[in-house]
Amino acid sequence: MGNRKVLVTGGAGYIGSHTVVELFQAGYTPVILDDFSNSDKKTINRINKILNTEVKFFEGDCGNEDYLEKIFLLEKDISGVIHFAASKAVAESVQNPLKYYDNNVGSMISLLKVMNRSDINCLVFSSSCTVYGNSAEQPVRETSPVLPAESPYGNTKHVCEQIIRDFSFSKESFKALSLRYFNPIGAHPSALIGELPIGTPANLVPYISQTAAGIREELTVFGNDYNTPDGTCVRDYIHVIDLAKAHIRALDYIFQNKSAGYDVINCGTGKGNTVLEVIKTFEKVNNLMVNYSIGTRRPGDVEAIYSNVDKAKDLIGWQSSLTLEDALRDAWKWEQTLQK
Ligand code: UFG
Repeated sequence: MGNRKVLVTGGAGYIGSHTVVELFQAGYTPVILDDFSNSDKKTINRINKILNTEVKFFEGDCGNEDYLEKIFLLEKDISGVIHFAASKAVAESVQNPLKYYDNNVGSMISLLKVMNRSDINCLVFSSSCTVYGNSAEQPVRETSPVLPAESPYGNTKHVCEQIIRDFSFSKESFKALSLRYFNPIGAHPSALIGELPIGTPANLVPYISQTAAGIREELTVFGNDYNTPDGTCVRDYIHVIDLAKAHIRALDYIFQNKSAGYDVINCGTGKGNTVLEVIKTFEKVNNLMVNYSIGTRRPGDVEAIYSNVDKAKDLIGWQSSLTLEDALRDAWKWEQTLQK
């Protein structure tokens, strides 16, 4: 879809930065908007290094309507937006729900208002499989029930999906896709960009990498008494590069006028792995040991969730191609970059 200009909010973040790289490589022109509240400015240089170009970036808050309007005016020919910018720490959202509703829902509304005024009618939204909650149906399909969220963070994803859907009903020319991510892991194979957890990581793979690197003494496996093959929780871990590519296919689909209006798509591999399988695979592919022990269950964790992938294949022609081994190798390579 050569040369179309796309605004990427949160484009310096974990999934955002990888998507910017893939967008450029697919012939799009990405423009980054990021306030660096949960990302590092150095990421921009690193993206530029991978791409051997200078990606345009704006520093600011995507909830600021005046600023957004200014960007759309300055960058006259933006034809779509990928909206990543959001707060994403589940535990923090329980402590500070208003921050989450303000940042995630507030900025969604601001963005849609300005897109509407500027007549920009293509949106890809970062959603999450968290909207399925503790689903009895595995793998989950897009038609599986959306259950009450376990956290304010999870609820913001559900609420944003509904806002986008309702808005798309009100404006025929507006097309949007919500991508429901499963568990993104890994990093760019160049080891120039990856996840930058602030403080103690909440997610499994950064915790494993930091334990392997000696930053953390021991990884706690949160419960081994679940009804799963080895008693530990099952998740669908997807390489961040595969996930980034899903955004390009989603944009292509909308720009090729194939989209009817609003839709949701699962972005996973279709395969579930237990926590212990992830640890063992990390140890095997990187030839090292991870110090871990079994602890109690983490409140709010669902037992198992993995994705049905049919709709992604049928609708946007996307499926994952990298393996858990690839992702865990890249995760360790990235951790070693961080240690330098
Ligand atoms: N886990 C451990 N030890 C750790 C960290 C995680 O055993 O130190 C386990 C968890 O209990 C879970 C699995 O590893 O079984 C994956 O945990 P993550 O925190 O990496 O991922 P989650 O599936 O819990 O979180 C994801 C997204 C969130 C989203 C959430 C909804 O990262 O954005 O799903 O459940 F909100």
